[in-house]
Amino acid sequence: MSYDVIVIGTGPGGYVAAIRAAQLGLKTAVVEKRKTHGGTCLNVGCIPSKALLHASHMFEEARDHFAGLGIGVSAPTLDLKTMQSFKQEGVDGNTKGVEFLLKKNKIDAFIGTARIAAPGQIEVTSEDGSNQMLETKNIIIATGSDVTRLPGIEIDEKVVVSSTGALELESVPKRLVVIGAGVIGLELGSVWRRLGSEVTVVEYLDRILPGMDGEVAKNFQRILTKQGFQFKLGSKVTKVEKTGSGVTLTFEPAAGGSSETIEADVVLVAIGRVPYTQGLGLDRVGVQLDNRGRIQTDAHFSTNVTGIYAIGDVIAGPMLAHKAEDEGVAVAEIIAGKAGHVNYDVIPSVVYTFPEVASIGKTEEELKAAGTAYNAGKFPFTANGRAKVNRTTDGFVKILADAATDKVLGVHIIGPEAGNLIHEAAITMEFGGSSEDMARTCHAHPTLAEAVKEAALAVEKRAIHM
Ligand code: FAD
Ligand code: NAI
Repeated sequence: MSYDVIVIGTGPGGYVAAIRAAQLGLKTAVVEKRKTHGGTCLNVGCIPSKALLHASHMFEEARDHFAGLGIGVSAPTLDLKTMQSFKQEGVDGNTKGVEFLLKKNKIDAFIGTARIAAPGQIEVTSEDGSNQMLETKNIIIATGSDVTRLPGIEIDEKVVVSSTGALELESVPKRLVVIGAGVIGLELGSVWRRLGSEVTVVEYLDRILPGMDGEVAKNFQRILTKQGFQFKLGSKVTKVEKTGSGVTLTFEPAAGGSSETIEADVVLVAIGRVPYTQGLGLDRVGVQLDNRGRIQTDAHFSTNVTGIYAIGDVIAGPMLAHKAEDEGVAVAEIIAGKAGHVNYDVIPSVVYTFPEVASIGKTEEELKAAGTAYNAGKFPFTANGRAKVNRTTDGFVKILADAATDKVLGVHIIGPEAGNLIHEAAITMEFGGSSEDMARTCHAHPTLAEAVKEAALAVEKRAIHM
């Protein structure tokens, strides 16, 4: 079999690259070692986590807030098995959707593990051990990432779990300890807290969500604490010991000092993810990795070996599905001789808790470090009519604009629907717009988006409702 393009991995990077390549008339195939397409994101990441976040939010709403709206229901009960089926049906619907799209675009899909035998040659090993060799002009590696493990701590996916096990728990742990106050820890911590777990988060740094705007992270920590999360910041886990009834976790101050222990029924290890290149045979073909094990690529997603490209979590940049997808489109266009491009300055990042946290562009810390003079406009949801009437007033919108040109440099939102609201900032930034542009755009009333307009007005201290 001979192709123009073979994509290894059908996560958001790989399947999107394949579809775009096929749209551009290239004879395309994909190789995926999972039985279903969609990669980490659809199978064990974005989609199942959002299903459980949605269902657990509904549960909490019914338990804690319906009565205040005048809706009388008896105390909701949890049928976790059905909730897990709800999640799985959502996953299946999405992975089948990708299978349909591959077929629709006449892309050949091989299920098996791919190894690059030589530039232009991919060996596929099926589950039954049989091999076949495929020929191709171009290879796109989109093999994604894997869980970072803590040395000496074995993940059994039952008691000591990664995100994959935390999405599959068969009962609600009474005490859940999360190692790592990043996106996974706070999203999946939220799911199990809403369903009844006592959640303690142990984080090495002295803050949550490293990389997010500091003021946002501090406020968000306060909101989560109010919801019942407990945080042990600046703490280093030194031991995780399984006991008959659960786990004993030992940790000490990251800066050194005396250790403490906590008991847990389940421990979630969520300390980041690492690029996945195992078994690809990169050594043999001489594809270079960087010092963090990521495949090194140039501005056109090309590795140092002609005809081999890489995209998504396996290369540098934020490990996000939409970043992988945009790179998938860009690399296919480049291979087809067009001008594919990704604007890394305008990639939104969203934490899908309640309230949501959304961010795009520079943080205040980054602007200060770069010596960029900026104006900040901030508007709280307590002053937004829609948030007030809905009683979802936690959070604010913050817009950072260049002091000289007023160009929007960063937008940070904690609040209901923050993950949707951030896209108005994304469009503005993609077009090189200013806070004045956002402030002069008519926003419908009553919407949460009015808080974005008011924050833009606040950049020049002229917010109306504050
Ligand atoms: P992947 O999705 O990891 O896909 C790689 C595929 O390659 C896999 O299917 C793998 O089986 C296959 N593969 C690997 N090696 C081979 C081989 N040798 N042969 C054949 N196939 C191979 N991101 C967001 O933007 N939003 C979210 O809400 C979000 N939630 C997440 C929640 C969780 C719990 C996790 C773990 C991640 C989440 N992410 C989220 C991150 C997101 O899943 C990744 O950024 C995204 O999946 C990366 O896409 P990718 O195509 O690079 O790789
Ligand atoms: P993360 O990088 O977001 O957070 C890891 C946290 O663990 C950090 O706060 C880090 O300081 C801490 N940490 C590291 N080592 C530690 C140790 N030994 N002890 C205690 N704390 C330690 O990684 P996370 O949450 O595992 O997520 C992985 C990736 O998946 C992220 O890069 C994210 O982009 C992606 N993801 C995205 C989501 C979204 O977009 N909503 C949802 C879930 C995951």
